[in-house]
Amino acid sequence: MLPMTENRCGIDRLIEVLDLALRTVSGAHRAQRPSPAEGREEGGLDDVQRAHAAALMRVNHVGEVCAQALYQGQALTAREAGNRQVLEHAAKEEQDHLAWSAARIDELGGRLSFANPLWYAGAFTIGAAAGVLGDRWSLGFLAETERQVERHLSGHLAQLSPADARTRAVVEGMRADEARHRDTALSLGAAELPGPVKGAMRLMSKVMTTVAHRL
Ligand SMILES: [Fe+2]
Ligand SMILES: [Fe+2]
Repeated sequence: MLPMTENRCGIDRLIEVLDLALRTVSGAHRAQRPSPAEGREEGGLDDVQRAHAAALMRVNHVGEVCAQALYQGQALTAREAGNRQVLEHAAKEEQDHLAWSAARIDELGGRLSFANPLWYAGAFTIGAAAGVLGDRWSLGFLAETERQVERHLSGHLAQLSPADARTRAVVEGMRADEARHRDTALSLGAAELPGPVKGAMRLMSKVMTTVAHRL
């Protein structure tokens, strides 16, 4: 049997993990930094443009739910304390992304994905599994995820109306953070993932983005 303090540590950690999961899937995170949309004019969008922007932002919000879950899963199994701290710091920035994108979805009159709990559970499991493989692979997985998210956000910027300054500012702000997260993972010694693994990740993200666009 574990000593009382270790037991308590385990229970505290479990409560923390569950609390974060619930806040993430319900869109209840508060941002630490102001949204990049602040101070930007609401462009004169028509109904179709607003609905399209809301659907794209729902996809981005799902991406952030997955990023949050991945980071939490990885932080749980990371071996080096330094790496764990970096993962936790990046997870905090991803919480800003969650709050910024949820707020923008709300402004656009859209809604969050119904499947958020499912996305979270899946990504958390993958993150924890990547962490078990060791920090180099876990960081490699993270660097590749951030690279794919960056590419994906660039694709959304190409689709968003030039007049939609508020949505564009949020997407651009998130993309800048993702680039930094990727560089951090690489500087900590991320391994380069084998081609087929990257391909499988692209396929999974395609499934996720297609489903999230509708659900
Ligand atoms: Fe993010
Ligand atoms: Fe990121």
